[in-house]
Amino acid sequence: MVTTRLSVLALVAVIPSTLAHYNFEALIVNDEVTGPYEYVRRTTNANSPITDVTSDDIVCNQGGLDADIMAATDTMTVSPGDTVGFDINSELGHPGPLAVYMSKAPEGTTAAAYKGGGDWFKVYDMTTSYISATDGLHWANYVGSTPITNFTFQLPEQLPPGDYLMRGEHIALHGAEQVGGAQHYMGCAQLTVTGSGSGSPAPLVKIPGVYTGEEPGLLINIYYPPPQNYTSPGPVSWPNKCEDHTPNLLGQASDGDCTESQTDPNA
Ligand SMILES: *[C@@H]1O[C@H](CO)[C@@H](O)[C@H](O)[C@H]1NC(C)=O
Ligand SMILES: *[C@@H]1O[C@H](CO)[C@@H](O)[C@H](O)[C@H]1NC(C)=O
Repeated sequence: MVTTRLSVLALVAVIPSTLAHYNFEALIVNDEVTGPYEYVRRTTNANSPITDVTSDDIVCNQGGLDADIMAATDTMTVSPGDTVGFDINSELGHPGPLAVYMSKAPEGTTAAAYKGGGDWFKVYDMTTSYISATDGLHWANYVGSTPITNFTFQLPEQLPPGDYLMRGEHIALHGAEQVGGAQHYMGCAQLTVTGSGSGSPAPLVKIPGVYTGEEPGLLINIYYPPPQNYTSPGPVSWPNKCEDHTPNLLGQASDGDCTESQTDPNA
């Protein structure tokens, strides 16, 4: 018995802690999964999270602003209203909110040459599936107890044409009870948006800058006492302040499951 228990402990000890980590690896467009890092900037960070919200690494992950990685990433042409998303390597294996931000490259700058120094807005937000009085927050990045491995959403019809970075971000909150404990996982896809959308995305934020690390959605003990509400960090999503509560998986149309986000900074 003792031997068995020791072996089990030894085995657990050698499982790398990076096992539960993950990457935004591939762009999804209209149900087609593109190649790993074909349209998403590669990272030099293996699959580790970024925890310093003031670091430039939080823009497009570590390496995502390196000239060679930017130049090696292709740019996908999409239309407003297209269904887009990310495929994850390997799975969104920790509890926390999922978001997608976009930033338009300045006139004359391609997506491949853009470092995301301009304005960003949120286009997708997904938080809890439900909140229980007894055990608190249940996260929508799990279906049952299984973490999702891909997700999609619809690009706003009003999205103005141009070159963009589209940045997926999942924030793992299992150790977020101290400042810097939240783990940010992200990846940037390079897009050219066609069409004649004439909306004005808002609210606008800078990345880094969008987070302090001390807002209620980032500095939180998600386990005890069981929280009875959750506010995702960053701005509300454009254009509908929509907060999703069930993931749209690859091949599934959006179920329109959206409540108005509580985080409107202008409210
Ligand atoms: C997308 O996610 C679903 C649910 O996790 C999974 O069944 C499916 O295999 C995934 N598809 C791909 C291409 O990863
Ligand atoms: C929950 O609601 C309380 C009261 O409005 C607020 O102070 C707290 O920041 C909220 N917590 C989260 C995680 O949003």
